[in-house]
Amino acid sequence: LAQHFVAEQAPAPQLETHATSSSVRGYNVAVLGAAGGIGQPLSLLLKLSPQVRELRLYDVANTAGVAADLSHIATAPRITSHSGAGALPDALYGADLVVIPAGVPRKPGMTRDDLFNINAGIVRSLCEGVARFCPSAWVAVISNPVNSTVPIAAEVLRRAGTFNPSKLFGVTTLDVVRANTFVAEALGLDPAAVNVPVIGGHAGVTILPVLSAATPRLTVPEQQARALMARIQDAGTEVVKAKAGAGSATLSMAYAAARFAEACLRAMSGEPGVVECAYVASSVVKDLPFFASQLRLGPAGIAEFLPLPRLNALEQDNFESMKEELVSSIAKGVGFMNGK
Ligand code: NAD
Ligand code: LMR
Repeated sequence: LAQHFVAEQAPAPQLETHATSSSVRGYNVAVLGAAGGIGQPLSLLLKLSPQVRELRLYDVANTAGVAADLSHIATAPRITSHSGAGALPDALYGADLVVIPAGVPRKPGMTRDDLFNINAGIVRSLCEGVARFCPSAWVAVISNPVNSTVPIAAEVLRRAGTFNPSKLFGVTTLDVVRANTFVAEALGLDPAAVNVPVIGGHAGVTILPVLSAATPRLTVPEQQARALMARIQDAGTEVVKAKAGAGSATLSMAYAAARFAEACLRAMSGEPGVVECAYVASSVVKDLPFFASQLRLGPAGIAEFLPLPRLNALEQDNFESMKEELVSSIAKGVGFMNGK
């Protein structure tokens, strides 16, 4: 095994020794679900990150091979492997950021909500581990349905007395990435030069790309704006259909999650001006206690909720029609925690 590869069954740590500080080079990142379709390419991208000191790969099985493989890459982050529920404490102890892509993906014909029955319990048990073993970590939830799993995560942490709403995020970066890509295609621009804020949640109509607030300014006929909006909202389903039973977006999601993780780590280290959209506990919109919007991140998590962009008539319409679904998805997550 390579020099930096730490085999499973490392002795259980006794004390949390890693004090998070910008003077320490890099951070400890745990990926829960690391052997999966998203987990593997995400771990690869994080192995390339200058922000990462140690990358902990946790899954119910099969992390040893992924870890051995990644550990041969000649970059600084140290890789550790943690397989099976008993290995969760070691994976989490001293983690600064926990990224959670654990759970089942959609097959054609399913909605994200159809994943609730399996993924709700997975997110609950992993967050119980977070509350116990790394209560100050930032947590980024990828597992669907995000609109419900983030309220579940919040409730688990709140019950454990460790909930910090500034540090819990539902990852909606893929919606922004897609919006940037599709708008860039429409305008004939480099996607890297485009930024579209996406607000609301992460399912169907709750995904609201605010095309009128795009930079550079997007001036297209309403019909084209409608088509772009529909494509962004249905992009997950576009991939599910194309994969024809073999899962949902993994590679683009790994890219998006790595971008979001990097943003978190840069903000943690004190870099100013880090802004990302994410689905978080929020009071930006009345009656929607969880909502995705643009956030400025700082060393302690969310430093500022940016004001919602002004919506045009089409976007306002969409905004009104998302509310009911978002309210019920949030209630479903909270209901799960109340045994309903
Ligand atoms: P996958 O089946 O390929 O991988 C999931 C991994 O999770 C597997 O390796 C599995 O062993 C692991 N796992 C299951 N239960 C676990 C547990 N209790 N602890 C640790 N690991 C566990 O699925 P995938 O394609 O990687 O997708 C994962 C999830 O991400 C799905 O719920 C999917 O819907 C979601 N997703 C979200 C977004 C987003 O934008 N937020 C995008 C794409 C996919
Ligand atoms: C996506 O947007 O690609 C993910 O939420 C996965 C899915 O089920 O569509």
